[in-house]
Amino acid sequence: MLPDNEIRFDASGQAWLDQLVQRHQSRASQLLQILREIQEHFGHIPHRIVTELAQKLSIPRARIESVASFYSFLHLKPHGEYRVLFSDNITDRMLGSLPLMELMCQQLWLQPGKVSEDGLVSIGTTSCTGMCDQGPALLINGRSVTKLNHQRVQEIVQLIRNRTPLADWPADFFRVEDNIRRSGLLLDSALAPGELLRAALSSGALNVVESIKASGLRGRGGAGYFTGLKWEACRNAQGVEHYVVCNADEGEPGTFKDRVLLTRQPDLVFEGMTLCALAVGAKKGFLYLRGEYRYLLEPLQAVLQRRRNDKLLGTSILGQAGFDFDIEIHLGAGAYICGEESALIESLEGKRGVPRNRPPFPVTHGYLQQPTAVDNVETFCQAVLALHMGAEKYRAIGTAKSTGSKLISVSGDCQRPGIYEYPFGVSVREILRDCGAVNTLAVQVSGPSGVCVAESEFDRRLGFEDLPTAGAFMIFDDSRDLFEVARNFVHFFAHESCGFCTPCRVGTSILKQTMDKIAAGHGTRYDLSEVENLDRVLQTTSHCGLGRTACNPVLHTLKHFRPSYENKLKSLMFSPAFDLDGSLARARQMTGRNDAGAHLKEIE
Ligand SMILES: Cc1cc2nc3c(=O)[nH]c(=O)nc-3n(C[C@H](O)[C@H](O)[C@H](O)COP(=O)(O)O)c2cc1C
Ligand code: SF4
Repeated sequence: MLPDNEIRFDASGQAWLDQLVQRHQSRASQLLQILREIQEHFGHIPHRIVTELAQKLSIPRARIESVASFYSFLHLKPHGEYRVLFSDNITDRMLGSLPLMELMCQQLWLQPGKVSEDGLVSIGTTSCTGMCDQGPALLINGRSVTKLNHQRVQEIVQLIRNRTPLADWPADFFRVEDNIRRSGLLLDSALAPGELLRAALSSGALNVVESIKASGLRGRGGAGYFTGLKWEACRNAQGVEHYVVCNADEGEPGTFKDRVLLTRQPDLVFEGMTLCALAVGAKKGFLYLRGEYRYLLEPLQAVLQRRRNDKLLGTSILGQAGFDFDIEIHLGAGAYICGEESALIESLEGKRGVPRNRPPFPVTHGYLQQPTAVDNVETFCQAVLALHMGAEKYRAIGTAKSTGSKLISVSGDCQRPGIYEYPFGVSVREILRDCGAVNTLAVQVSGPSGVCVAESEFDRRLGFEDLPTAGAFMIFDDSRDLFEVARNFVHFFAHESCGFCTPCRVGTSILKQTMDKIAAGHGTRYDLSEVENLDRVLQTTSHCGLGRTACNPVLHTLKHFRPSYENKLKSLMFSPAFDLDGSLARARQMTGRNDAGAHLKEIE
């Protein structure tokens, strides 16, 4: 990898860039995709290329730099010929990721976060890479390496020292297992590609919307909005074009079920998107694939091509004049916030992934301000199933308010981590039994922004009536310190806050510092009560769900595992050496105030 001043940009470089920009039709909305390809080619985004690109896309350099600096997988400076990023999810840590990272740093004579003097390698951490069932994992130049152990790390060190191209590394390093432990209607589905589309075309678009509404299907991305209502609102919204977007960003630590669906059931995903297009009247769809799943890009492109060849995508789908629809895959670049639907749309438009003000919602003002239906990968698959089974049969599965089945990503302290499909309504206890978890202290349901469930609550059930979930199910046994779990989650939020609004940008950082202070043995009970105050601020003033849920991990673990916090406090009672309230007496006298509000509040 060459430093900026040594990058040759001769006629062939110009031709390469011209061709790249042309392939993306010189659209500024393709900026993120173009930058990803530049990064893949050069290893970073050279200064010189930014200038050339700005001219070719007729946009300011500042826009390119601002987009490039937003995404953690893009770099304006060289980051080493080999860029190693250890997945820093709590489950990777529980599997020993930190000592393995130390080992690699030691053997390569390198400090985390630094590039080696010869520009060969850099080592750092990244948020969860979606391989929690086969960790510890790392990314090397964007490719996932799973099942790390002492030996594998040493082999990697050797391959790096020898400058072996990734293409020549043992294929086994990059193997990603599906780990399906319990399948149900969705994972077992053997519907032929196009089968449902054919049926839907004969019954009509309106019927698709009505059937989805009648099935009670709710979104599987977390919030659980009714899919039929969303499709109907999008269909009825005025616009020049309508769009369908599949949210495959799957960034919530502990979630990896969309990865498995995209591997095992890609036709169901694309069939669901095409049915949605029929329902809402869209001609264009996007699948937003998280950067960590880059390895799925080519297989998914191949499925899309097969569907085009089979007339299941393209113009006059299945011979129906006027039914034209195609799907483009966009890759993310390491920003969790891009899973939030409006941030995702910004990212699709080639911008920084900052959530938009809502309302208006994407169903009326989405991609390019046009009506857009954004749904999770699993939701599209479930929509196909619901149509196939018919509303009545589909509603019979699950619970009254949560119909159908749900994929659960199980990780952490259990014998059989992986994917489990259950009808909604399954209890935490049943899942723990099935995956071989023993001596379980707590389960984190739905990732850091979700709920920490303690043993006394293991009979609670997954579903929108009780424990809503996008699918993460992280298990902690009685050897774990739940304070450290919450600390890891809080670090995650501070790292992933997009920085747009001050309460979240500053608040997540204060929260992280508070947890670090407690961990270092300098905390007091005052710090704990401050977290509650911070939560109130973040709940009421944050622009999006990330800020609103950032304090959850601390508040939930405090509720159930307070001793694990209090054990670390230097003193439960805060006793400052300096009497600040007393020192302010003169100021009170001068202002003529002596009411309660003029005194510092009692803290103990
Ligand atoms: C911070 C944040 C991250 C999110 N990440 C994802 C994600 O990775 N995948 C997803 O499907 N939904 C995610 N969502 C929810 C989406 O905003 C949106 O509700 C969802 O894509 C709608 O699809 P559904 O109705 O099928 O659930 C996230 C929301 C927030 C606030
Ligand atoms: S709450 Fe946080 S993540 Fe959401 S917009 Fe504000 S700064 Fe960004």
